[in-house]
Amino acid sequence: MLRPCNNHDFESIYAVVNDAAKAYKGVIPEDRWKAPYMSRDELKNEIEEGVVFWGCQEDNELIGVMGIQYLQDVTLIRHAYVRPANQNQGVGGKLLSELRKKTKHPILIGTWADAVWAIRFYEKHGFHLVSAGDKNQLLKKYWSIPKRQIESSVVLADQKWFDTYPAKPNNT
Ligand SMILES: CC(C)(COP(=O)(O)OP(=O)(O)OC[C@H]1O[C@@H](n2cnc3c(N)ncnc32)[C@H](O)[C@@H]1OP(=O)(O)O)[C@@H](O)C(=O)NCCC(=O)NCCS
Repeated sequence: MLRPCNNHDFESIYAVVNDAAKAYKGVIPEDRWKAPYMSRDELKNEIEEGVVFWGCQEDNELIGVMGIQYLQDVTLIRHAYVRPANQNQGVGGKLLSELRKKTKHPILIGTWADAVWAIRFYEKHGFHLVSAGDKNQLLKKYWSIPKRQIESSVVLADQKWFDTYPAKPNNT
């Protein structure tokens, strides 16, 4: 069952995120990894900044979460995490399809360049990597992340974004 999360889900979201984020250990740059990957304060801050979490519930437990953040002209998909035991069974795909219906704006997704499985997951759903130049600009414009994280991240966009912002010549 997919449903929007509420205040009572805070600890469950925190648990799902940090369980699933173990996939990053040894993969993303060492200086960007910490345990827990996302602290309660960071999660609280993300929610206060407008990230709305949706969850996939099974047997009264959240097994996957995904956030959506509506900005002026684009919508971001943030913090996609499925419990390791439940990965690769379509949960993330269902959440992504549901959230995509909730905006008319172009959608952007940022993830670690080294998280090849996540990039493959989004590409399977029709998202494409934006150019390195666009990535740097977009991460600065729409995300609040340190410079070091920009270097080791990628941005994927849906077709609507590419149609709205066609590539300029010499754009790298
Ligand atoms: C990325 C993630 C949210 C996808 O959710 P999911 O429920 O596992 O994905 P689905 O079952 O809907 O889709 C499966 C696709 O995702 C990718 N994938 C998911 N889990 C994978 C795994 N453990 N190993 C390799 N590929 C995986 C593959 O592309 C797979 O397609 P394939 O079966 O054709 O190879 C989930 O795997 C996850 O939480 N990963 C760890 C955290 C993470 O990377 N989050 C992304 C943050 S932007």
